[in-house]
Amino acid sequence: MAGKNKPKLVVALDVDTLAAAKKIANALYPRVRWFKVGSQLFTACGPEIIRFLKAKGAKVFLDLKFHDIPNTAANAARQAARLRADMFNAHISGGEEMLKAAVEAARQEAKARRSAAPIILGVTVLTSQKTTLNSVLALSGLAKRSGLDGVVASVNEAGAIKRRLGRDFVVLCPGIRLEGAPSDDQKRRATPEEAKKQGADFIVVGRPVIKAKDPRKEAGLIIDALNK
Ligand code: C5P
Repeated sequence: MAGKNKPKLVVALDVDTLAAAKKIANALYPRVRWFKVGSQLFTACGPEIIRFLKAKGAKVFLDLKFHDIPNTAANAARQAARLRADMFNAHISGGEEMLKAAVEAARQEAKARRSAAPIILGVTVLTSQKTTLNSVLALSGLAKRSGLDGVVASVNEAGAIKRRLGRDFVVLCPGIRLEGAPSDDQKRRATPEEAKKQGADFIVVGRPVIKAKDPRKEAGLIIDALNK
């Protein structure tokens, strides 16, 4: 149905420098409101990019895919909440104890700071890897039991996850490409239209936008596809 359950576009700032990230964010905001800061950019410039994006009014998905002993994962999750990341993630394969510890720490920290609790997602299986629907569903179930708000999964599994775990369980899908665009290393790819049809809440797009000659135009094409 047009306009119903439209996924939000998250642009992955997968670049090497703060200056390059700022340039893309400045060009795209406010047409694009959500930006993803992953391990490449965060390793290069740390929390400064998050402060920059938050000061602009943008929303931040901190994609560091925490996977560690429960104490360390919880401490990292607390720092994500302290930075006021609007969304962050952890690997579901880290197990229930780790996930619960991370969720509890982040929510406690947000409460203490009177800020909104971040959306906490579990990474099922990377979209660059092949997998089966059953394993993604099993991991998603574990994420929900552990108190996470949702999962990162491919569009192929999004509809089934929503049906099994409920409409409110957030599904964020990377591996999104416009029809005819190169896949890069993504093995389970889909179009924005398909992501919308399957009920995804967020789609993540990196290279097709940030490597485009005109990132603003490319992001516009994706937003138009979501608005169809
Ligand atoms: O450039 P591309 O659109 O393929 O970027 C996808 C982004 O989403 C990358 O930053 C990648 O790390 C991230 N991601 C993914 N698959 C996951 C989780 C995150 O591709 N399961």
